[in-house]
Amino acid sequence: MIKITKHLIIGLSSFCLFHSFAFADSIKVLKADKLISVSDGKVYQKPVVIVTDNVITQVGQQGDISIPTDATVIDLSGHTLMPGLMDMHVHLTSDANIHGYKRLQRDTSRAAITGVVKAKRTLMAGFTTVRNVGAPNYADVALRNAINDGDVLGPRMFVSGPSIGVTGGHCDNNLLPFEYAVTSEGVADGPWAMKAKVRQNIKYGADVIKFCATGGVLSKGTKVGAQQLTFEEMKALIDEAHLRGLTVAAHAHGTEGIKTAIQAGVDSVEHGSFLDEETIALAVKHGTYLSMDIYVTEYILGEGEKAGILEESLAKERTVGKRQRESFTNALKAGVKMVFGSDAGVYPHGDNGKQFARMVQFGMTPMQAIQSATIAPATLIKKETTLGSIDVGKVADILAVSNDVLNDISVLENIPFVMKDGIVVKDYIENTVE
Ligand code: ARG
Repeated sequence: MIKITKHLIIGLSSFCLFHSFAFADSIKVLKADKLISVSDGKVYQKPVVIVTDNVITQVGQQGDISIPTDATVIDLSGHTLMPGLMDMHVHLTSDANIHGYKRLQRDTSRAAITGVVKAKRTLMAGFTTVRNVGAPNYADVALRNAINDGDVLGPRMFVSGPSIGVTGGHCDNNLLPFEYAVTSEGVADGPWAMKAKVRQNIKYGADVIKFCATGGVLSKGTKVGAQQLTFEEMKALIDEAHLRGLTVAAHAHGTEGIKTAIQAGVDSVEHGSFLDEETIALAVKHGTYLSMDIYVTEYILGEGEKAGILEESLAKERTVGKRQRESFTNALKAGVKMVFGSDAGVYPHGDNGKQFARMVQFGMTPMQAIQSATIAPATLIKKETTLGSIDVGKVADILAVSNDVLNDISVLENIPFVMKDGIVVKDYIENTVE
């Protein structure tokens, strides 16, 4: 049984109810033992954070700040405050148990319903913002809108719509023979066709553009290391997106494809598996972000076969996972900008946080890992003035976590308190949950 108090909101009906009186009771005060400040990489003791409606209006030390008498005080003693987490690579409309040919049985409406369930799970895991990079038929746009309308409980979403890619490429559907004539929505060939797809995705609600620069692990018949778009195609697509004020994410495993995407001006490279020194130097020079999903290999090789992942994909994963982790360490040492991107959807939503321990294992400090999932992604998606840290003027996306977090990053796999947009959506600290 869940006891619902003034600021415990779990489940949709209570969420809506609370939403309606949130503004009548609009000042909340959070007190805790420590605060992780990702903007300066420091930890502050005995913090107080004042949230007015959905915005952080004061941050200071207990005793130094006067608490408004009409405020709701949320006592998170014994815990550390940190900004809400941001995952730059998810597929909320995908189910980790359904891969390969099983996916052919799922239509877009079913995918959207999956999205509703997985959105809540993701938020409850402490991820208050996600970038959804690839969904069928704009199901992601519908989900984002439903969350923004308050109909569905989930993270703030920035969505791409269908991923763009060439005929037979990683973003096409290559499962069926020719006579079935199945082609994915984002398929285009040639520079102008790429631009047209960008325009179409913007028309139907995309916030970001995703394209597939190389083959992939989970697509049938693609070579994971091989480049799939020409430089001209990538440049046309990226220029069009930038002209319209959108950033671009490129799925890219192979070295040449990564290099070409960086030279064509991409904002983030997803996966980034086969990096060499020259490619790393190029990423540093261009300020390109890497979003490297270094946990998912464990799920694919452990659970993938049961979930329907094809044998050819498992074989590809055996070559990619290890190299990707080495690339991660090398890129980190060279100072490439990194963001947290998990590919949740390939593995279970809500388990996003499992990647933190791997990021630390392969070279990040816990503070760097936290920054890669807060202020760095906010900067990548050009939302750094409103998201990504606990600073005055930012949207109140705040977590309370174990005080041990900078010694043991794996505590981020279980987050007891989540505030999104000034509303407490999970509170296992002040409230009893049986
Ligand atoms: N969606 C990606 C692909 O199919 C998943 C790659 C997973 N493997 C990895 N080591 N990151 O290519």
